[in-house]
Amino acid sequence: MNKDIVCIGAGYIGGPTMAVIAKMNPDRKVIVVDINADRIAAWNSEDYSIPIYEPGLVDVVKEVRGRNLFFSTDIKGAVQQCDIVFVGVNTPTKMFGRGSGRASDLQYWEATARSIKEYANGDKVVVEKSTLPVRTAAAMEAILNGGTGNGERGTGIKFTVLSNPEFLAEGTAIKDLLEPDRVLIGGPETEEGRRALEAVVDIYAAWVPREKILTTNVWSAELTKLAANAFLAQRVSSINAIAGLCEATGADVDEVARVVGADRRIGPKFLKAGPGFGGSCFKKDVLNLVYLCETFGLHTAAEYWTGVIRMNQHQQERIVSRLFSAMFNTLANKKIALFGFAFKADTGDTRETPAGTVARLLMEEHVRVTVTDPKALDNARRDLADLPGVVYEEDEYKAAEGADAIVLMTDWRHYPTLDWQKIYDSMRKPALVFDTRNCLDAAELRRIGFRVLNVGK
Ligand code: UDX
Ligand code: ADP
Repeated sequence: MNKDIVCIGAGYIGGPTMAVIAKMNPDRKVIVVDINADRIAAWNSEDYSIPIYEPGLVDVVKEVRGRNLFFSTDIKGAVQQCDIVFVGVNTPTKMFGRGSGRASDLQYWEATARSIKEYANGDKVVVEKSTLPVRTAAAMEAILNGGTGNGERGTGIKFTVLSNPEFLAEGTAIKDLLEPDRVLIGGPETEEGRRALEAVVDIYAAWVPREKILTTNVWSAELTKLAANAFLAQRVSSINAIAGLCEATGADVDEVARVVGADRRIGPKFLKAGPGFGGSCFKKDVLNLVYLCETFGLHTAAEYWTGVIRMNQHQQERIVSRLFSAMFNTLANKKIALFGFAFKADTGDTRETPAGTVARLLMEEHVRVTVTDPKALDNARRDLADLPGVVYEEDEYKAAEGADAIVLMTDWRHYPTLDWQKIYDSMRKPALVFDTRNCLDAAELRRIGFRVLNVGK
């Protein structure tokens, strides 16, 4: 088996992961391929205008591109050169037919499996990186090995399928990849499976301490990814459920979270109340879990996880209801500026962003919505293309001019350092700030003259 690696899919997972693998394995050639020629051209662009904004990524790409990291549209050539094939293609939630709104849409993934099979010229280790429903590896194995069940197809080419789910979070992807809490690799419990597993362990062992590389069977690895994201999403929904109660009772959710998190069994992370979770993974993975539970007749478990999603949607509806009450029960024709559209700071990604839901709810109330964001305005324009009235403004001060309210949706680090007096002076009075991330100095804002709303206070 040669040591070179191909990754099919040059997206949020494939791009950063392969860049770091190439950086830490200078003796291996790493080729990232994609059917999207524009995307590959962007990865290869001379001025490094790579298609993903991720702190630190461009420096890694500068270091390794052309050294041992290559981006290409030649999927066939790359599959033939490399014996280890990672698959990082998109698996969005299916929006049609059976499992609509819950199951994963596996068409891209299946097309990829079929092209690997078509192009393979020798034995291959195929590594799932995309989040996939449990038992997908078995389906992939069936497609690749022609369903003979003995791990071989007529030509004698053998495919061994492993699961190596990615736990990186956007905005901290490079750090998460360089210093992971753990790397998880699941493999079949056969002789070939063990050999394939060791080959993939070797890639990570170049920089990750061996004890942090955890190996399991394939199904455990697949389910672990869904479970880990579901637990994280559930923590966010749990603290948001407490936030509503804090608002009603006069408790302060940040104080509650600090003390709850001081219990070492619970821990302090992922207890920040806010507008609800967004991002490409949490909702999709929880819905996947729900679909799995239903498939296996575990209806109460399915309902339990559905509650996590319902709570999240409710959190965004509550933001709009509270604005409505605070703004004298009418929002029509008022100007509201959304500060931040990305689903969290340090990323331009807007998939499932709470700001999108809030923008839509406000437009239904005939609000004049202006959106500002330092990295996500292009994505915002695309996401809200069906709402022609929305205004996009790069400059926060201009976005706030004449507004009745500012709703801070994303915790961009520079928002607290803006000149809030200047912003106040340019707004219509009474001027309101709804800080859904509790990141601004509320006392200072009140001193300036703002009316201030927070989540969970
Ligand atoms: C997540 C997982 O963290 C990662 O392991 C997995 O591989 C992919 O999904 P990501 O979606 O990039 O990563 O971001 P994350 O930092 O987990 O945040 C998800 C959402 O939860 C964001 O919208 C964030 O604002 C929100 N969140 C997070 C909170 O509202 N409160 C918190 O305390 C933490
Ligand atoms: P993720 O967040 O999972 O990385 P992205 O949507 O960012 O998802 O990236 C997935 C990438 O996979 C896209 O660039 C898409 O063009 C690519 N892709 C999808 N299907 C195929 C395929 N059959 N062959 C090659 N690349 C594919």
